[in-house]
Amino acid sequence: MPPLLPFGRRPHPRVFVTRQLPGSALDELRERADVSVWEDEQPPTREELIEAVAEVEGLLCLLTDNIDAGLLEAAPRLRVISTMAVGYDHIDADAATRQGILVCHTPGVLTETTADFAFALLLAAARRLPEGERAAREGRWTTWHPSFLLGQDVYAATLGIVGLGQIGQAVARRARGFQMRVLYHSRTRKPELEQELRCSYASFDNLLAESDFVSVHVPLTPETRHLFNEAAFARMKPTAVFVNTSRGAVVDEAALLRALESHHIAGAAIDVTETEPLPKHDPLLRLPNLLVTPHIGSASSATRARMAEMAVENLLAGLAGKTPKHCVNPQVLAQ
Ligand code: DGY
Repeated sequence: MPPLLPFGRRPHPRVFVTRQLPGSALDELRERADVSVWEDEQPPTREELIEAVAEVEGLLCLLTDNIDAGLLEAAPRLRVISTMAVGYDHIDADAATRQGILVCHTPGVLTETTADFAFALLLAAARRLPEGERAAREGRWTTWHPSFLLGQDVYAATLGIVGLGQIGQAVARRARGFQMRVLYHSRTRKPELEQELRCSYASFDNLLAESDFVSVHVPLTPETRHLFNEAAFARMKPTAVFVNTSRGAVVDEAALLRALESHHIAGAAIDVTETEPLPKHDPLLRLPNLLVTPHIGSASSATRARMAEMAVENLLAGLAGKTPKHCVNPQVLAQ
């Protein structure tokens, strides 16, 4: 088993943290809890995680840790799970609620950073930036040719935002600077935001048919799993660019592969995949019209430090019997 720092003998709640965290959040946690940190860069295996949670009251985890009902059964003293992520699809929150365990996450703090990144992907895919960079490095920049690496204009194009939560809204604000026409689709229409963000509601099918760019900002739930399937890609324009910074499983990757291979859509830029890390020999990696990044949408120094602080704040509040600011099942405290 890789290095696992032992618990001390202080009368504080025991906490397991599944990775070293950026910034000074862990120092604060160590002042008020008996902390053990997983020191390895790779996540603990399931067996290692099961062993590590056996005696703890608090767990600070990441999106790479699968916290399911089986794992919770192995943690009889656990009272609070705090993930350093906004998306908590890696935690079985219903099972946690049944066991009286609070589940906390870090919404809000990564909104602008992730929206910046979604826009970076959109621009890069639209203007074929990775292909241009590879051409320049690989000696294929032999002249200035009028038809070399032609892409799509972002300025004044139509952007379709699927999921108008905080990150979707932040993307819509950025689109205004590019004078884009913005369509959105979400479970419920949000008339109060339409004027402020200058966006219009569209059915899912109309959004797909009309958008030059489609950017996804929905959480992963049973309803959104494989939302982007064969039928969805078939509705999109052949010039369209698809951007995903949400969760990989929102997309049926076999359908995306076919849509890109057949040039049914022009390109895609994805920061998330169904299996992470994306296996080295995954067929998606052969496609020149796909830009893929390793789940770094929220990866700015300031944002990651703030996410760690928020995860610690949530954890400490829950362990102190208070309602954490960002708790998905506060009803647990009333049980
Ligand atoms: C999250 O927080 O859910 C992101 O995917 C990681 O930044």
